[in-house]
Parts: sequence; structure tokens; C-alpha cells
Amino acid sequence: MGSFLIDGKAIASRVRGEVGERVKHLADRWRAPHLAVVLVGDNPASATYVSSKDRAAREVGITATTHRLPASASEPEVLGLVRRLGQDGEVDGILVQLPLPAGVDAERVLEAIPPHKDVDGLHPTNVGLLAAGRPALVPCTPAGVVRLLKESGVVLAGARAVVLGRSQLVGKPMAQLLLAENATVTVCHSRTRDEHLEVRRAEVLVSAVGKPELVRGDWIAEGAVVIDVGINRRPSDGKLCGDVCFDEAAQRARLITPVPGGVGPMTIAQLLWNTVQAAERRLETGGRG
Ligand SMILES: NC(=O)c1ccc[n+]([C@@H]2O[C@H](COP(=O)([O-])OP(=O)(O)OC[C@H]3O[C@@H](n4cnc5c(N)ncnc54)[C@H](OP(=O)(O)O)[C@@H]3O)[C@@H](O)[C@H]2O)c1
Repeated sequence: MGSFLIDGKAIASRVRGEVGERVKHLADRWRAPHLAVVLVGDNPASATYVSSKDRAAREVGITATTHRLPASASEPEVLGLVRRLGQDGEVDGILVQLPLPAGVDAERVLEAIPPHKDVDGLHPTNVGLLAAGRPALVPCTPAGVVRLLKESGVVLAGARAVVLGRSQLVGKPMAQLLLAENATVTVCHSRTRDEHLEVRRAEVLVSAVGKPELVRGDWIAEGAVVIDVGINRRPSDGKLCGDVCFDEAAQRARLITPVPGGVGPMTIAQLLWNTVQAAERRLETGGRG
């Protein structure tokens, strides 16, 4: 079976267009949404991510500010900045770029973000709301995956879905979101036995492991939908690749995401979506905090 590519760039561009409309509507009634990004230290990958988020936000009319602290910043300094942004009535969304330098406890910092401004969806309140099946700000990557699946016409209700990985950032919220869509969800992790047999049963496979080409073509069921969240370097040539061996999987899957150009563009689009949603919610509730 030949696969069709799920074009993450095209779908992300559609999402950004919708966000742009909502930003315009908000700006007409109130003001543009404001995303504050906190960057601690000088990790080059983090700096690149932050500047692309900043650029993407500006492109849709969201006000974006980056708040930098040196790698030597203490935990109280980072907490102080996050709390100030939390109390700032002009700020609708706060994103703390991870990882934080050693000595700064990420969990404590994330908990200092008011849940209604937590556009990464990592505050325990949002994690709990998602688990309870209630409206929440949801981590951007898994939310983007659901959007990709829906836009591609994949029926999730009743589908056998397998998620590889159980991180707070991707795997766990992914499983919750698929469950909320009435899929039958299996989660695999580093201790799963006979993982290829679990994957073989998947009608929808989402891999978020971080191991280059772990998933081989013969793991994939004929006609499955394959979403590859992984971003890795292939040891043999140093090129970007996913968790799934694309050439092999494409022989069997019905739909498949490429790496790059699949899930990646959706993550930023969904961050913009979460920011506008947080701002709309603040306007509805009288612009609190
Ligand atoms: N495209 C994007 O926008 C985007 C966004 C975020 C992340 N990513 C990429 O997605 C990947 C995962 O990210 P993450 O933050 O979730 O990583 P992470 O925090 O390192 O978590 C990896 C997860 O994979 C599990 N795992 C390890 N070996 C496994 C195996 N053989 N089979 C199944 N599960 C296994 C681990 O299990 P244990 O819990 O048992 O250790 C863990 O739960 C990375 O490549 C990352 O770069 C991409």
C-alpha cells in the first residue's frame, strides 16, 4: 500500500490563519493577545525555539515579549519573574522555555504560572483538568496531533490507538486527548514488552520516543495512520529523522507524517491557538490577573 503524506505545514498554515482572524477580532474589541516567553540561560537550541515562537506570534498579530535571565539566575529570581508576569494584567499567556538550568526546579517554576495563562498546558491544574475530561489549556504538540488527525479525516471514535512514550509533554496528554476522542488507547514506554506486537494492532500510531527509526516497517499494520512526533539525528548520516523508519512505514501506512514538516509546524501553530484562547477567556472573565 502506498501512503499519503499528512502535510503538517499546510494544516499549520490554516490554523495560523484561523488564529489571525481571532486575534483581529480580539484587537477590535479589546487588544491583541500578549504572549510572554521566559528564556533562562544560553542554550542555543532554546534560543532558536524562542525566536521562532516570537516570530510566529508576531506574524499573526500576537504581541510577543521575551524575558531573558542569565544561566546564573537563581530559582527565586526565575520564580519572581514568572510571578510578576502572572500578575501583569497585560499578559495573557506565559511560556517558560525548557529545559531550565541545573539548580532551578522546573516543576516549581511551572506551578508559579497561573493556570489560565499556562499556554504550554503543563501546570498541574491543567494536567488534572485534561485528565478529568474538562476544558483546559492542553500541551501544544499532542493538541496539534489531534488537529492533524481530524483535518486528515481520520475517525478516532472506536479506533485502536497506540501511543509510544509517556512523557508529561507529549505521551501522557496525547493518550488523554485520544481517549477524549473515544479511541481505545494503549500506551507503550521503555518497559513495554513485545512493543512491536502492540504497534501491530494500531490503527492509529503516535510515536513520541526520541529514538531514531525505532519503529520498523514490519511493526506497522497495513492501512494504519502513523504520526511521528520524534525529532532525532540519524547516526549514520546526521540527518533529521523521526522515531519511525519512514521509507519502510510508508509501504504499509495509509497516512503518514514526514519528519521534518509533519508534527513540528503544528506545535507552534497550537501555541498561538492556546495564546488566543487564553486571551479570549481572560476577556470573558473580565481580564482578571
Ligand atoms: N515535533 C515537535 O514539535 C516535538 C515536540 C516535543 C517533542 N518532540 C520530540 O518527540 C520525542 C519525544 O519527546 P518527549 O519530550 O516526550 O521525550 P522524553 O521526555 O524523553 O520521553 C520519551 C518517552 O519515550 C519512552 N520510551 C523510551 N524508549 C521507548 C521505547 N523503546 N518504546 C516506547 N517508549 C519508549 C520513555 O519511557 P519511560 O517513561 O519508560 O522512560 C519516555 O516516556 C523527542 O524526539 C522530541 O524531540 C517533538
